[in-house]
Amino acid sequence: MPKRSKSSERWLQRQRKDYFVRKAQDGGQVSRAHYKLAQIDQRFHILSARKKVLELGAAPGGWTQYLESKITRGFLIAVDPLPITRGGRCRVVEGYAGEPEVNEQIIELLQGQKLDLVLSDMAPNISGIRAVDQARAMELADVALQACEDWLIQGGDLAIKAFQGEGLDTWVADLKKQFGRVNMMKPKASRPESREVFVVARDFNAAGQL
Ligand SMILES: C[S@@+](CC[C@H](N)C(=O)[O-])C[C@H]1O[C@@H](n2cnc3c(N)ncnc32)[C@H](O)[C@@H]1O
Repeated sequence: MPKRSKSSERWLQRQRKDYFVRKAQDGGQVSRAHYKLAQIDQRFHILSARKKVLELGAAPGGWTQYLESKITRGFLIAVDPLPITRGGRCRVVEGYAGEPEVNEQIIELLQGQKLDLVLSDMAPNISGIRAVDQARAMELADVALQACEDWLIQGGDLAIKAFQGEGLDTWVADLKKQFGRVNMMKPKASRPESREVFVVARDFNAAGQL
């Protein structure tokens, strides 16, 4: 067996010890990320049976699994270039959000309907250069915001993963011009050492000025 690098050995040890990883494994959840969305939903009540939801960055499918259990009468469109574990309720668009061909497929699935909720757990491939990674993460945040401008219903909601760092404060300040209520949350299931936070923006105002 090839020798593991120190960093992958550290990752494995952390996974073995991590409470939410064990809980996900014991409970048959696809990933620990499942609990992040569950905790966001417990606090902000963004999900209900009839919601029409677009999920960006859905693989491997932890959030999708939670969403499918909640959205029993609405619909769910999940986007990711990687394979998503899911049940029959979810429509998958394979590719990168923001790409024209992905947009076309979303439009086709929507059939003229608007979304109640846009979710994004998208994360860039990490280069290790903090400024580069942060800039990429902010670009993904803009992709999710564009999806809101294109397809979110008046009064709809957005919940998005972001990373603390350059550009986030300004981005959140701009978001407040387009949404009535904007909150930041660090779910317990998010690793304390991670810079990730979740921004939950409610009451979309399509006419809001940037
Ligand atoms: C942290 S993972 C998502 C975990 C997922 N929410 C879950 O619960 O299993 C981040 C995902 O973002 C995806 N991603 C990155 N850029 C993307 C883009 N432009 N469009 C769609 N997905 C993207 C990656 O492929 C990766 O699967």
